[in-house]
Amino acid sequence: MSEPSPQSVHARYPEHLRQQVDEYLAGLWFTVDDPRESAEAEGTGGLVEAMRYSLLAGGKRIRPVLALATAESLGCDPRALMPAAAAIELVHTYSLIHDDLPAMDDDALRRGMPTCHVVFGEDVAILAGDALFAEAVRLVCEVQAGGPAVQAGILREISRATGVAGMVGGQYLDLKGAGAGGAAPLAAMHALKTGRLMAVSVHVALVLAPPLPEQERIYRAFARELGLLFQIVDDILDVAGSEEELGKAVGADERMGKVTYTSLHGMERARALATESHARARALLSGLDGPVDDLAAITDTAFARTN
Ligand code: IPE
Ligand code: IPE
Ligand code: MG
Ligand code: MG
Ligand code: MG
Repeated sequence: MSEPSPQSVHARYPEHLRQQVDEYLAGLWFTVDDPRESAEAEGTGGLVEAMRYSLLAGGKRIRPVLALATAESLGCDPRALMPAAAAIELVHTYSLIHDDLPAMDDDALRRGMPTCHVVFGEDVAILAGDALFAEAVRLVCEVQAGGPAVQAGILREISRATGVAGMVGGQYLDLKGAGAGGAAPLAAMHALKTGRLMAVSVHVALVLAPPLPEQERIYRAFARELGLLFQIVDDILDVAGSEEELGKAVGADERMGKVTYTSLHGMERARALATESHARARALLSGLDGPVDDLAAITDTAFARTN
């Protein structure tokens, strides 16, 4: 498969879904103005400001866009999944706030802006992350359509993808240098720290609109592959990307002595592995029954992105 140019993939990224996500996220915190809510949470304006700051700083919104595109491919109105999609973006934003803390990656730039702890202090940044996670759960419980069984199913998926066998466990492995064990442990670490939150964006759509078992197997394999691809490219961009485009520091992994696809395999092999992963993800999509144009565009973006 020939490598798509960054220009061609960016043109095809489902901007209409991204716009829907951005509008929904921007509307979320109006609930804070609810008089009852404000009375209960009096004095927490500074915390809410930190949450807002990081959530609305921008970002590609690739996880919620992936959730909506998956719903669409399953013949479901994407808007019906918006609360779950937004919840995943809240969890992702919490993971970024904590990832940037001095005790973790110690980064000062994120989404083109000073990181949460730089602006609001480490104490508030920790709490902003904690609160975003809780608000994500609340969003699914209170607003997600489909009734209690769907809400519980979505919460199960999101909590599993966030916990020990998910993002948090992967972050632990990253901090403890588990990737140094070789190609397999590194891939396993990436699958947890980044892959699971990406994959769960597909999984929540499967809860709302379950396909036949054989189709579900393909969706799940695609989700897993896309998650791995995304972090391989993240590792490559940390070496070969530009700070201006990425909105975060480059060379951060080397500075922290992180084991990455480029440090372990070298740049040429890392690029080859990304190309193979992209081809596998695209091949899986061709086995799906529904319309997969947006999923294909997201896969191309994950591969050829420069931001
Ligand atoms: C960055 O995620 C952290 C990783 C898991 C690699 P994104 O590249 O999706 O960051 P935003 O949301 O666009 O800022
Ligand atoms: C981040 O991995 C994974 C999570 C935030 C869970 P990185 O540490 O590589 O992400 P960036 O490069 O800081 O965005
Ligand atoms: Mg990290
Ligand atoms: Mg980091
Ligand atoms: Mg990185």
